[in-house]
Amino acid sequence: MGKIDGFQQLDAWQEAHAQKELLAQAETVGKILNGLIASTERRRAAPLIPTPYSILPNPHPLLRGGNMQPKLITLTINGRTHQVALRPNVTLLHALRDLGYTDVKNGCEKGDCGACAVLLNGRAVNSCLVLAWQADGAEITTAAGLGTVDRPHPIQEALADSGGVQCGFCIPGIVVSAKALLDRNPNPTEEEIREAISGNLCRCTGYTLIVEGIRRIIESKNQ
Ligand code: FES
Ligand code: FES
Repeated sequence: MGKIDGFQQLDAWQEAHAQKELLAQAETVGKILNGLIASTERRRAAPLIPTPYSILPNPHPLLRGGNMQPKLITLTINGRTHQVALRPNVTLLHALRDLGYTDVKNGCEKGDCGACAVLLNGRAVNSCLVLAWQADGAEITTAAGLGTVDRPHPIQEALADSGGVQCGFCIPGIVVSAKALLDRNPNPTEEEIREAISGNLCRCTGYTLIVEGIRRIIESKNQ
């Protein structure tokens, strides 16, 4: 009987110990939950702090420039005039794409790839390295302003015919660079062609067919 009492006491002790453990765990979980609820309420009550532009991958135009004051500027793009209020740190690349000129490609945003090239008053520039304010009053021409699918520019046609277009991402920038080259030098050598497009990265073609396409335009003009 005494032995059975001992087992019963042990069971009772174990049960009490288990309950105590459970109560302690429940208390810990309760504290964590209360902490979470309190922090959620604090966050809801706190004023909204705008996220800095630099850490947003593709920020909304309204967030670009933080508290800097916008200025009304005039951009003439492919012959069409736009008046837009932009903050000083908006690049020409972002302004163009926000206005719908998505043929201007956004590759690197740091001047490495040439995908964003446009003609600014006839000169090829990387629009990611130009502030929109710097283009105030200037004439901007994008690849789509040179030619369209229905009415391609001879450079676009020659690149397509030569097989120099694969995925096509680099092509608007290459068309712009080639146009700037041929405008200032109608008879460039192969070396000059390669130099003119050296700022345009193409991950597909190996450049040979692109250079071939540009050479075809020169040859057809000289015939
Ligand atoms: S996006 Fe401008 S050079 Fe790459
Ligand atoms: S054709 Fe694909 S990057 Fe040039």
